[in-house]
Amino acid sequence: SFAVMHSLAAVVLVSVVCVANAFTRNDFPPHFLFGASTSAYQVEGAANEDGRKASIWDTFAHAGNGGLYKGNGDIACDQYHKYKDDVQLMSKMGLDAYRFSISWSRLIPDGNGPINPKGLQYYNNLINELTNQGIQPHVTLNHWDLPQALEDEYGGWVSRRVIKDFTAYADVCFREFGDRVKHWTTVNEGNVCSMGGYDAGFLPPQRCSSSPIFNCSKGNSSTEPYLVTHHMLLAHASATRLYRKMYKVKQQGFIGFNLLVFGFVPLTNTSEDIIAAQRAQDFYLGWFLNPFIFGEYPATMKKNVGSRLPFFTSREANMVKGSLDFLGINFYYSFYVKNNAKSLQQKNRDYTADMAVELTPYTVNGTSTDEIPVIPWTLEGLLHSLKDIYGNFPIYIHENGQQTRRNSSLDDWTRVKYMHEYIGSLLDMLRNGLNIRGYFVWAFLDVFELLGGYEASYGLYYIDLEDPTLRRQPKLSSVWYSNFLNNRTTDS
Ligand code: NOJ
Repeated sequence: SFAVMHSLAAVVLVSVVCVANAFTRNDFPPHFLFGASTSAYQVEGAANEDGRKASIWDTFAHAGNGGLYKGNGDIACDQYHKYKDDVQLMSKMGLDAYRFSISWSRLIPDGNGPINPKGLQYYNNLINELTNQGIQPHVTLNHWDLPQALEDEYGGWVSRRVIKDFTAYADVCFREFGDRVKHWTTVNEGNVCSMGGYDAGFLPPQRCSSSPIFNCSKGNSSTEPYLVTHHMLLAHASATRLYRKMYKVKQQGFIGFNLLVFGFVPLTNTSEDIIAAQRAQDFYLGWFLNPFIFGEYPATMKKNVGSRLPFFTSREANMVKGSLDFLGINFYYSFYVKNNAKSLQQKNRDYTADMAVELTPYTVNGTSTDEIPVIPWTLEGLLHSLKDIYGNFPIYIHENGQQTRRNSSLDDWTRVKYMHEYIGSLLDMLRNGLNIRGYFVWAFLDVFELLGGYEASYGLYYIDLEDPTLRRQPKLSSVWYSNFLNNRTTDS
């Protein structure tokens, strides 16, 4: 039968890959975590159930995702109803940790005000199910799904008022779940949120006055990305301050922030491009890390953005500085960077123009395919650079994974190869002194994807959307990961 043939093929492939393994799980430090990631809007479904209200992502998806792809998260993977089965799969797979996010508008439907008891119940159930199976919950508070009510009330992240509401929301989470949750991430990919939602326009709330792709009249891309980041930093710092004051002694947890990171490789050896690569890193990462570590924005940003860059009062600077217990990074690919001084002459400059670089995806042998090139050395290079500049604070790799097209073939050997190489390279990175504490695959399942909707896939499990049961079908990658985690890979 097909199933038998399939598992036979899988076994053969897995063994081929495993013979090439030069490592096992035992080579990693005992406390090093292996997990998998998802986010609320991308997996939960039940969008209109049990008192949940819309987030800005619901609104964006229902308006057609900027015309980029079809679909929405109304049903997604229906994890809201299937969480027990999913946790069962995680447990069999041998995951140490599950990274998921809380839907703010499920817990506090209007963004501020009363708690939704059914929302509270759901997250308690999910967290209990995980901890009962010995799986650590690593929880993100905001994964791009700000309550629509706050967007309507005062413009969401653009307004300072978000700081108070975010802190109150975080307070509810710490109070209700903090006895079991020890790792909190305030914001997922803060940099992508500011840049994608307020400049480029591919993310909600799609305010992108100067996008060459989208016709957005809303927003002001020359100021809003900077304001939004400023408010995120203050919201994070304010939540951390609250945690340290009210909960830390009792709960002993940690608060981090998440960024999408890239390796920035100078296109040529000229000093212009080398400096440009550092500037790109400042704009994407220093934007957040300099305030977190040094209490102010990078000099390159102050110079290019000028008075459009908000500034911290000394009280704020002291609150932001040191507010990071760990950094969560999402790493998929890298860029070549070329200096572009011309963009600084543009009138009404936006975030992209202020950076004054041209970015092109880093490819292997100049070919670009759907698949993401496997280039762990660019990740290692980036992490050493962060260590040199900011010190050796703890890092979790919150996301890493191979994108393919969603299809029914379960033989995703390119994903196995991708994971195998990155996980193997982690060992070198640890030996070379990098302070990496854990690794999470994106994604546990084929989810409603940020870019690509239901056409793109990163999951260890495939879900046939035509199948009303939304059965989780293990791909080869889930077999490989599970063998690795359960220590069944042997060096021969
Ligand atoms: C970034 C995001 O955190 C996640 O939501 C997204 O689906 C993946 N990476 C893949 O693009």
